[in-house]
Amino acid sequence: MAYLQTLVSFLALGLPLVSALAFPGAVGFGSVATGGTTPFVVTSIADSGTGTLRDAVSVSGRNITFAVSGYIVLASPLSLSSSTTINGQTAPAPGIGVMAREVSASGKTNIIIRNLRMRQGNMDTDTGKSAFNMGTASNVILDHCSIEYGVFDGIDAVGTVNVTVSNSIIALPIGQQFGAHLETGPATWYRNLWVSAHNRQPLTKANSQYINNVVYNYQAAYTVANTGGLFSHDILNNYFIAGPSTTSAGDDYFQMNANQKVFASGNFLDSNKDGVLNGAAANTVGSAVVLTAPWNSGSTGLATLTAAAAYTSVLANAGASPRDSVDAFVVSTVQSLGKTGTIFTNQASTGLANNGYGTL
Ligand SMILES: *[C@@H]1O[C@H](CO)[C@@H](O)[C@H](O)[C@H]1NC(C)=O
Ligand SMILES: *[C@@H]1O[C@H](CO)[C@@H](O)[C@H](O)[C@H]1NC(C)=O
Repeated sequence: MAYLQTLVSFLALGLPLVSALAFPGAVGFGSVATGGTTPFVVTSIADSGTGTLRDAVSVSGRNITFAVSGYIVLASPLSLSSSTTINGQTAPAPGIGVMAREVSASGKTNIIIRNLRMRQGNMDTDTGKSAFNMGTASNVILDHCSIEYGVFDGIDAVGTVNVTVSNSIIALPIGQQFGAHLETGPATWYRNLWVSAHNRQPLTKANSQYINNVVYNYQAAYTVANTGGLFSHDILNNYFIAGPSTTSAGDDYFQMNANQKVFASGNFLDSNKDGVLNGAAANTVGSAVVLTAPWNSGSTGLATLTAAAAYTSVLANAGASPRDSVDAFVVSTVQSLGKTGTIFTNQASTGLANNGYGTL
């Protein structure tokens, strides 16, 4: 019914149907992405050649599904074309992932990526690359992705316009040990699980929505790095939870200077590392100017969960499905609520199989 009403109102306004969402349930600024429409089925998990993911993304306009599952061991960065949809959720169990190099949408537009595991790790010796790079891209939505072992950043998004990262796990970055770096925007960060990073969860030099995220075992979490840029931020119903690597729990908001305007509400901080979720309200955001209402009219409607409910929901649902050993390790770390957690320098140190990448 709601869909029909949306359809009717698009038609009434004379808007093209491409104004519809990226997919049912897509939210935020990246939901304007329409992706590709030409069906392409990935039939091989080889790095390159006919029927591989590299083959699939080499031409724009494709709506990619998977007849195979497992890890694709990338021998070079995987460079996406514009107007691409990657439907990782169509892969048979245990799902699809890429490892060992960067996935890049750099400079491209109109990208939808769902249910993809992106795990760079130290098999990539290029320390300037990230697990996912969307620098100077536009109209990008990542949903239910699992981004681990990023070397430069988990997600690098400098000069990027209209972005959503939702229902995803951004965890265990190695190298610089940073979660995500976005500049330009606007950007929506929604229901993500951020675990065991030094900083940038995210660094968001943009007008931003940050809603129902869970951040665990941080050294610094939400930041603008004291930018000279003037930005607005709606920070709603997030849960920050200290872990063994958290040296200063008060760095849940980090380098948030007076150039920023922030509407912060419903956020909690659990700083005591006692194995129980028992945080307190945390809505004072550095030196930022306090807004008394959201800067974006859509933010309140997205903040449907309290911070405590977001903890339960995000731990149950974030990341690619079905959950594999890497994501299970990340989630169990969070569930220790202060007792376990390490900011790694090498994925192998997790002790997981396959040199720390886990098996798919
Ligand atoms: C792309 O493929 C997915 C999975 O088969 C399908 O659900 C979706 O409707 C397709 N989208 C378009 C625009 O063709
Ligand atoms: C960003 O999205 C808005 C709609 O919200 C659209 O008007 C604008 O053209 C998009 N920007 C780019 C670079 O596509």
